[in-house]
Order: sequence, then structure tokens, then C-alpha cells
Amino acid sequence: MTAPLLDIHLTDDDLTIGLRTDALSGLTATPKTLPPKWFYDARGSELFEQITLLPEYYPTRTERALLARVADEIATAAHPEVLVELGSGSAVKTRLLLDALTAEGSLKTYVPQDVSASALRAAAAEIAEEYPQLGVHGVVSDFTDTLHNLPRGGRRMIAFLGGTIGNLVPTERAEFLAGINEVLEPGELLLLGAGLVIDPAVLVPAYDDAQGVTAEFNRNVLHVLNGRLGANFHPEQFEHVAHWDAENSWIEMRLRATAPMTVTVAELGLTVTFAEGEEMRTEISAKFTRDGLGAELAQAGFALTDTWTDPDERFALFLAQRR
Ligand code: SAH
Ligand code: TRP
Repeated sequence: MTAPLLDIHLTDDDLTIGLRTDALSGLTATPKTLPPKWFYDARGSELFEQITLLPEYYPTRTERALLARVADEIATAAHPEVLVELGSGSAVKTRLLLDALTAEGSLKTYVPQDVSASALRAAAAEIAEEYPQLGVHGVVSDFTDTLHNLPRGGRRMIAFLGGTIGNLVPTERAEFLAGINEVLEPGELLLLGAGLVIDPAVLVPAYDDAQGVTAEFNRNVLHVLNGRLGANFHPEQFEHVAHWDAENSWIEMRLRATAPMTVTVAELGLTVTFAEGEEMRTEISAKFTRDGLGAELAQAGFALTDTWTDPDERFALFLAQRR
């Protein structure tokens, strides 16, 4: 078996440089904040896989059931030659799409893309073995600034699943959707999975599980800062907070200092203090309405081909075509 092709647009050094920039601006801002992509080192990617199996975390299994139901319809409507998947992670659910698309007959190449090299390498190798008829071409990059690095050629469908679109703030989201529209040729497609606004009694526990896996995942960003930048955070002294912000329609993840603290980030020559109870924002996970996200897609230059939701309307899949 030949190992899948892997393009590395983000080296380990690039990651360190990027983290330095983000840590310097985020830890000196008021309130302090850190971008979510830094959760995903090898440990973070493993913790996210554990999250997807939690009883409280409905998004993964809801989207999986939805994909199982509509993958054939997607294949018939889209019949792409190339499936590009942004933020592919372990690509477990993607198998449902790959099955339908290979059965439909047009698919030749799968291009998983992720910032997490470890997750990408593993997923690409497994899929290359499971689907020997497909070319597998992995891309390690940041989907917010390297869309132009995606391989071209062949009629493409870009999939962006898992509700990861909700992890971008609204301005980033608009830029991101417009950026995807720009890299696509007219007629090429976007398959977007997004969480819908639901009862906070169901939503909040999905981001604050009883076993504390999500808390550990959230704190992982502090382990990453310690490992990569020589910071001396005591992650266990930070509490996980998941707050539903109804006005903005997003779950906000924060880390709350349980005591006053002084932290040094050796590689930055930076010392920061935390007051007891101070909260640092680490991620948002926006939830949408069907019409709202449909309008954002139209605004970004897409024509909506189809929308599907699960019976409880917790999650939606949008198939949209670049005009
Ligand atoms: N698509 C998978 C994983 C979702 S978790 C699923 O549906 O289960 C979000 C994924 O996006 C992770 O694999 C993470 O490594 C990746 N990711 C987060 N920020 C990213 C960025 N800026 N660029 C590329 N990948 C990113
Ligand atoms: N894309 C996932 C989501 O928004 C990421 C995620 C799940 C997450 N649980 C989390 C991010 C907890 C931070 C903390 O659903």
C-alpha cells in the first residue's frame, strides 16, 4: 500500500510562531482570550474524539444519523470528483459520504485538511487503506488562511462538518464563507454541517459533560502553552465554564481562574496575572437557524441546493453551489 500524499503548509515551527503571536495578543487583551485552534495538538484531538462519544454530546451522533439518511441524495445531487474536507479530524462520519460517493461512481480523490497533523495523518492512512480505489491527498493547514493551498482540478465538493463553522466569530465566518466561494469554480459545491438553536437544557450539557472530558479538553490549551512556549500554567487551577449567550446565539467556553495567579510565558518573556474568578474566553460554538445560515450562504455567493435536518431539528446539513 502506498502512503497517502500529505502537503504540510504548517510546520511545527510555523505553529510555534503562530502560537507566540496569538498568545501575546490574547493574554495581554482585556478580557483575555485564546483562539480555538490551539486545543488541537495530539492530546486535544484525542480528547475531542472522546467528546464525540459522550452521552451529552448530541452533535456528532445527530449529524452521523443525518448523513446516513441523506448521503445518497447528496451523492446524486453533487456527484463530485474530489471531496475536500476542512477540519476533518478523525473523519469517522466522512465514511458515510465516501461510501455514497464511491457507490455513485464519480469520486476519485479525497482531500482531508486539518491543523492537527497527528489526526490528519492517522485519518488519511486509514481511509487510503479502506478505500483503495481513491486517491487520498492530505493537507495540513489553517482553514482560515490557507484555502488557496487546496489542490485544484476535478469537480470539487468542500465539506465542512461537525458544526465547526460555529467556532468562528461572525466576522470570521463571513470572511471564511466568502473565501470558500472564491476558491471554488462556478458550479462546485459546499456541504456544510451546523448546529441549530435548541433548548439550552440540552445544549449546555453537550459543552459541560458530567465526566469532565470537555473541561479537560478546554484546559488542554494551557498544556499546549506550557509545552510549546514554556509557560507555567497550572491547568487544574482553572475551571471549565460553558455559558449560553442567547443574544449572540452561541455557547461560550471559558477558563476561570480559581485563585489569584501569576503566570510566566518563558518564550515570550511575558508575565501575566489572573485575578481570582477571572475568565478567559477559549471558544464559541454558535448555533444557527436554518433560514439564518441559509441567508449567510446566499450573502457569500452560494445558491442553496438543499437543506436537511434531523427529526428534532438539532442539526442541519446545507448543500450549496457556487454561483
Ligand atoms: N470534522 C470532525 C472534527 C470536528 S472538531 C467532526 O465533525 O467530528 C474541529 C476540527 O477542526 C478538529 O479536527 C481541529 O483540529 C480542526 N481545526 C480547528 N481549527 C482549525 C483551523 N483553524 N484550521 C484547520 N483545522 C482546524
Ligand atoms: N466543533 C466542536 C463544537 O463546536 C468543538 C467543541 C466541542 C468544543 N466541544 C467543545 C470546543 C468544548 C471547546 C470546548 O461542537
